[in-house]
Amino acid sequence: EKGGYDYFMLKEIAEQPKAVADTLLGRIDASGRLSLDEVRIPASVLREVDKVVIVACGTAYHAGLIAKYAIEHWTRIPCETELASEFRYRDPILDQRTLVIAISQSGETMDTLMALRHAREQGAKVLAICNTNGSTIPRESDAVLYTHAGPEVAVASTKAFLTQLVACYLVALYLGQVRGTKWGDEILSVIRDLSEIAGEVEEVLETMEPVRELARSLADKNTVLFLGRHVGYPVALEGALKLKELAYMHAEGFAAGELKHGPIALIEKDVPVVVVVPSPRGRSVLHDKIVSNIQEIRARGARTIVIAERGDTAVHPYADHLIEVPATPVLLQPLVATVPLQVFACELATARGNEVDQPRNLAKSVTVE
Ligand code: F6R
Repeated sequence: EKGGYDYFMLKEIAEQPKAVADTLLGRIDASGRLSLDEVRIPASVLREVDKVVIVACGTAYHAGLIAKYAIEHWTRIPCETELASEFRYRDPILDQRTLVIAISQSGETMDTLMALRHAREQGAKVLAICNTNGSTIPRESDAVLYTHAGPEVAVASTKAFLTQLVACYLVALYLGQVRGTKWGDEILSVIRDLSEIAGEVEEVLETMEPVRELARSLADKNTVLFLGRHVGYPVALEGALKLKELAYMHAEGFAAGELKHGPIALIEKDVPVVVVVPSPRGRSVLHDKIVSNIQEIRARGARTIVIAERGDTAVHPYADHLIEVPATPVLLQPLVATVPLQVFACELATARGNEVDQPRNLAKSVTVE
């Protein structure tokens, strides 16, 4: 049932191109616009939404952090993403014009369920993004957009995460389409780019041998740091989470701009630091800033592992290890940039003799608060 792979996690990593394609299937019409009629919240209600709040845990929370960038950019609706376990305890401000999005692979995560119940009690509309048909979270929501990752068996989430991202982009683009923002043309072009993304994920998967080799060479390290900016920041958090849960290593993700506000003190000789570099096209200011961050940490002896768009030569002189990913629109980059980090964590776990599919102390679905 592992389809020839040693672990479910490897199988699920390999299934990502299909999972992404399946999640898009039937959701883009012949004219290249989104048709999400299955989300049974009328367009008239979506036009009135004045705030979006995303609640989720763990990896799904990281998808939600990325969604915030997409939603605010394409819809101009203020959006916040919050850990489900923190949400209801701070007495959040919600009303009928708030759209709450609950993201969950299992659909059974108690923290997320309690957050959405609280949101509905306050009159907010709840849209679930979920991978498990008929599970509790979609049953208790006003609407659901299913991710079509197929069953995810390994405890560490991989393909579900990529499909959560796709679903989040679909919601963001759909909200933009329904409300008609100045980004109409960009929205159409990003929908086209999304249809190409499965092939790009496949390309990344085909070039992972050097990443596995690198991971094996780091098996005796104590710590790995991850840096990113913009949508690369949640990717850094996700890379660190994967490493903690699988390799049982100390790993931390930072916003690269925060370095000088503290974390740079952690940089010493030979500490591996993974840097997720945004596309040099589009927001070039961001790109320049991260290049100088890489220079700063390298000057202090860090061993830099740089994930960058193919052909981004500006980073080459500062990358001890370069991991290239295909060019995508800036906001979509997490779909390709996360994949090497999954492979990296999985290989490190194997090299350290850990149980990849069943990490210690973890359960696939956390049904207690
Ligand atoms: C990490 C991981 C967990 C889950 C989290 C939420 O690899 O699997 O962090 O993402 O427990 O689970 P769901 O998505 O089922 O609500």
